[in-house]
Amino acid sequence: MKLNLLRGGRHPRLRRALAASAALLAGGGMVVVAATQASAAAGCRVTYTVNQWNTGFTANLTVTNLGDPINGWTLRWTFSGNQQITQSWNSRFSQSGQQATLTNEAWNGNLGTNASTNPGFNASYSGTNEIPTSFTLNGTPCTGSVTGSPTGGPTSPTSGPTSPTSGPTSPTSGPTSNPPPGTHLDNPYVGARPYVNPDWSAKAAAEPGGSRIANQPTGIWMDRIAAITGTGGARGLREHMDTALQQGANLIQVVIYDLPGRDCSALASNGELGPDEIDRYKTEFIDPIAEIFADPAYRSLRIVAIIEIDSLPNLVTNAGGEAGATEMCRIMKENGNYVKGIQYALSKFHAIPNVYNYIDAAHHAWLGWDSNFGPAADLLASTAAGAVGGYDTVDGFIVNTANYSALTEPYFNINTTFNGVSVRQSKWVDWNQYVDELTFAQAFRQRLTGAFGNDIGMLIDTSRNGWGGPNRPTGPPTSASNIDDFVNQARIDRRIHAGNWCNQSGAGLGERPRATPAAGIDAYVWIKPPGESDGASQPIDNDEGKGFDQMCDPNYGGNARNGNNPTGALPNAPLSGHWFSAQFQELMQNAYPPL
Ligand code: BGC
Repeated sequence: MKLNLLRGGRHPRLRRALAASAALLAGGGMVVVAATQASAAAGCRVTYTVNQWNTGFTANLTVTNLGDPINGWTLRWTFSGNQQITQSWNSRFSQSGQQATLTNEAWNGNLGTNASTNPGFNASYSGTNEIPTSFTLNGTPCTGSVTGSPTGGPTSPTSGPTSPTSGPTSPTSGPTSNPPPGTHLDNPYVGARPYVNPDWSAKAAAEPGGSRIANQPTGIWMDRIAAITGTGGARGLREHMDTALQQGANLIQVVIYDLPGRDCSALASNGELGPDEIDRYKTEFIDPIAEIFADPAYRSLRIVAIIEIDSLPNLVTNAGGEAGATEMCRIMKENGNYVKGIQYALSKFHAIPNVYNYIDAAHHAWLGWDSNFGPAADLLASTAAGAVGGYDTVDGFIVNTANYSALTEPYFNINTTFNGVSVRQSKWVDWNQYVDELTFAQAFRQRLTGAFGNDIGMLIDTSRNGWGGPNRPTGPPTSASNIDDFVNQARIDRRIHAGNWCNQSGAGLGERPRATPAAGIDAYVWIKPPGESDGASQPIDNDEGKGFDQMCDPNYGGNARNGNNPTGALPNAPLSGHWFSAQFQELMQNAYPPL
């Protein structure tokens, strides 16, 4: 079937615990619980005392620093159940899944050797409430023998467990620790404590309701040479890595995004380097980044490098002959500087054992057609093959970076028919082989294992593909009149056209970042920091090399790459990468899963 002609150009880029014994609760009123103690030979000792009732508990901690004096502390542990901290004192809290973090307040950050501090928190839970088995203080495990005994009687016990029957045993495993230097993990996200960028976090937290997500890990964008040392008050790369260590993080996500002739099929993220400036890319951009990555001070960090969004996919679909082809993409294909730049980056980073390379692989509504899928996989493979280290330089691929494609369409799939007509024949699907990102990512990975082997894993950027809110369908269509009507009623992706990529109206935050969510997927990640614009909705003078792309103008009627549809972009948007409060608010409102 044809139609392939449309797609080639049509999609453009994307935009883009010691206690072993559970203090079980039977129900009823406030009951006791246990206190346990974890002591560390070198780093720290934690006493964790709990008073719990059937749906919640209060924990009071004593944290003692057994090491050198510290100025600022971060205490981390992993809950084994669904405990969720709701409030803290003498500390600030954050939580990502089961991973909980308390950090000092401005006034209690200094802890001399053997000094203690007493943070505490309230939390909700259901089922069992096991006491965490291990803690880290500024990344140093608080290990040691555990002695637990209930302290403090119930305040108003009615029924329920009186006390743990068997005493806590010794801690066995806590959060996965860092591999010894030189170890390269299969999936760096397993057991990871990802870095939370305080620069983004502060902007998110300053928005009403923003503190609900301000502790999520997001991508650190090296989007120009100056970003390496820091721009506009934002941290430079070294400062980010140092802050990551202070947080006790063991993983940091860095986007490498400054190729010559960058963003060749669009204008909103054009970069500072001209199409021929490959030498500057190597010496002024990749070399200094590689030098920082290679610093032994950062050996405990798993450095995830997200390599050059949209670039290789653009060479496949927008570099000549297709409806949406551009002159700049043709030039970049001809001069080979995208391929050479990526090969150089892969080679340099692969030489550093704690760096993990993930190359950008667009998204389903760009590469999902057979005519793009195979050629894109081949170009990714031939590019890696030309790097020093070959296919081994690549740990995996990322899809949907900065884009809005739904993770999963719950009410139809590629095999769905309506009145005997395939959804592939709808205008929305347009003969694509995929209707959502998860199926695409898994299939694309399968195709790539041919060259790269079974160790590769996929990342999916779920920062803005939630599609919740009032317009989200709640079930399959009940009264459709034809296939277009059916798909339009069924789809949760509410964009006007799947080729639309700029500041999409109606979008929401997607799945929160987490490891190994599905087969073949290393992690769901938030690489595009929610609240950062995809591009200005009108021309804005700037010194970042950014152009004005009409796909960011809500009043533009579209081009060949989005089937000449309206853009669906939000009005009043600032330059790409700049804070866009209105979008951030809408993303929170339409979050799915809801916040
Ligand atoms: C922009 C970058 C920015 C990134 C993250 C890209 O579209 O071009 O400047 O750092 O988005 O927001």
